[in-house]
Amino acid sequence: MCGIVGYIGDKKACPILINGLLRLEYRGYDSSGIATIEGNLLSCLKDKGRVKNLYDLKGIDDLVGTVGIAHTRWATHGKPSKENSHPHLDNSNHFAVVHNGIIENYHELREFLQKEGVSFLSQTDTEVIPNLIHYYYQKDNHTDELKFLRAVNRACQDLKGSFAIEVICQDYPDSMIVVRKDSPLVIGHGNGENYISSDIPAILSFTKDFYLLNDYEFAVLTRDCVDFYDIHLNKIKKDIKNIEWDAASAEKDGFEDFMLKEIFEQPKSVRETIGSRLTKEDCNFDDLSFSKDYLNSIRHIYIVACGTAMHAGLATKPIFEKFCHIPVTVDIASEFRYRNPIIDEHTLCLYISQSGETADTIAALKLAKSKGARTLAISNVIGSSITREADYSIYTHAGPEIAVASTKAYTSQVVLLSILAIYFAEVLGKQNEELNCLKNDILELAEKVEKTLKNISDIKAFAKKVYKETDMFFLGRGSDYTVALEGSLKLKEISYIHSEAYASGELKHGPIALIENDVTVISILTDPKLVEKSISNIQEVITRGAKTLVITNQALDDKKFDSMITIPNTNPLISPILSVIPLQLLAYYISKEKGLDVDKPRNLAKSVTVE
Ligand code: G6P
Repeated sequence: MCGIVGYIGDKKACPILINGLLRLEYRGYDSSGIATIEGNLLSCLKDKGRVKNLYDLKGIDDLVGTVGIAHTRWATHGKPSKENSHPHLDNSNHFAVVHNGIIENYHELREFLQKEGVSFLSQTDTEVIPNLIHYYYQKDNHTDELKFLRAVNRACQDLKGSFAIEVICQDYPDSMIVVRKDSPLVIGHGNGENYISSDIPAILSFTKDFYLLNDYEFAVLTRDCVDFYDIHLNKIKKDIKNIEWDAASAEKDGFEDFMLKEIFEQPKSVRETIGSRLTKEDCNFDDLSFSKDYLNSIRHIYIVACGTAMHAGLATKPIFEKFCHIPVTVDIASEFRYRNPIIDEHTLCLYISQSGETADTIAALKLAKSKGARTLAISNVIGSSITREADYSIYTHAGPEIAVASTKAYTSQVVLLSILAIYFAEVLGKQNEELNCLKNDILELAEKVEKTLKNISDIKAFAKKVYKETDMFFLGRGSDYTVALEGSLKLKEISYIHSEAYASGELKHGPIALIENDVTVISILTDPKLVEKSISNIQEVITRGAKTLVITNQALDDKKFDSMITIPNTNPLISPILSVIPLQLLAYYISKEKGLDVDKPRNLAKSVTVE
């Protein structure tokens, strides 16, 4: 994980870098640091703790350089400490490096460098990088302007693992070199200045013009231009990508937290994701060019993802199966990639990733590709790594999601996959009345999301009642079970309350043993066909003294439960888009009651770019 930023221009780099780091804190926040160059002086300041602590670091105001790199860390190798913070310098203090990723062969590189007389100050894998660069730099007898680049390039050829790296060198005070492999990095192009960031939103207020690097492409940045090179140091050309996101959408906009803002943005993100993909007249994914013959040849669909994105896959599996009659397996990317799944050219693999940078999901995609399957990425970030690896890509239009706990990305993913399933069914010639109804129901969703968001006082009150609990249970059947999983994940992520999600019918096979007086059980009931059975399960926990919250779109007797939240009625196949909202809000308000940092929960990062 970790976030990196860089600046080269005519302004003081330090404030720009801190501003960028603050926006990248969701990627990690246990330590941070900055290195700048002024004249030929390379200066570096870093420490353990949140990015805002940088403002108080002794000497921070003296960093007046207009070229700089910076880092916010999520520790992998070496505990959070000043020594392990980035930037890391080589022994001669010529080079400063910030790095996101993991150098898998750092042990052997460290041993090699130690034999060459290098001493290490940290326990990180990163510290080998500046020292390796210096090693090759010293060995190069030329003094031309590409010497710095040659050293970085040569060092990178020795690195195994993943990296997005920024390097500055005091002998080259007017340039900066960046390179990536399997870790995110974007280059923002401005007027007489250039920026680096781990993601687009962090520097959107400075520029909307971006260059995207592929693996092992090197960029040499000066104030006025960016030159690109391949691994063999041949010059390559890159086009600028203009990003339409609005800078304000990466701000809190009057909300106390990004998460709350993002929850309330769901009517818009649902509407925009439906966009022109589904209208009254048409369902359109023609950009995918999936013919009827091709879809007829598909024997199996895999939907692979991590975390909340995986739950979006679970929520939409029944739609593909019902209307396309193709079996669907939803898998966790980190499991899929190591269990030798049965894949051939008759397999279609869908990969969902909000960030498009999740290491396990990308690796799972590469695996399927190597076995001959077609791969389709569903991402929220244009040009993200996964979209560049996949055969096809489609986008949710949720706008930047900053809070670590995913909300609007989930509902947008469920919307987009539902429309995709409809499209497949139509191409396969399986239109029917039920499919038409589902289309209409999707078109009414944004308004219903708005209505769902109007009803928050009961959720707040329930949060107040239960925030001191240590365990909770979530129950549901069918689609409601998939929402139970997502509700339970949200609660764990931001309130640190242990919770379990169970298919209601499984209650009797174990978890009911844990139900005793005052245990909180949250049930989701939105499918009329399953309501009776689910109510019997709730009755079983009430009998054993449980406190119950019911989320439903049915006309139930609210006196039976401690609390009941009524949401608008919709097709059970897409009800997760509505029923998840009270659960997002519940997790949010419980976290607030506990006084926690909602947007940056402990130990978590938004974009998990390591295995
Ligand atoms: C992390 C985030 C989750 C997210 C998951 C997958 O765990 O904290 O919110 O669901 O990664 O991320 P992706 O970007 O691939 O959807």
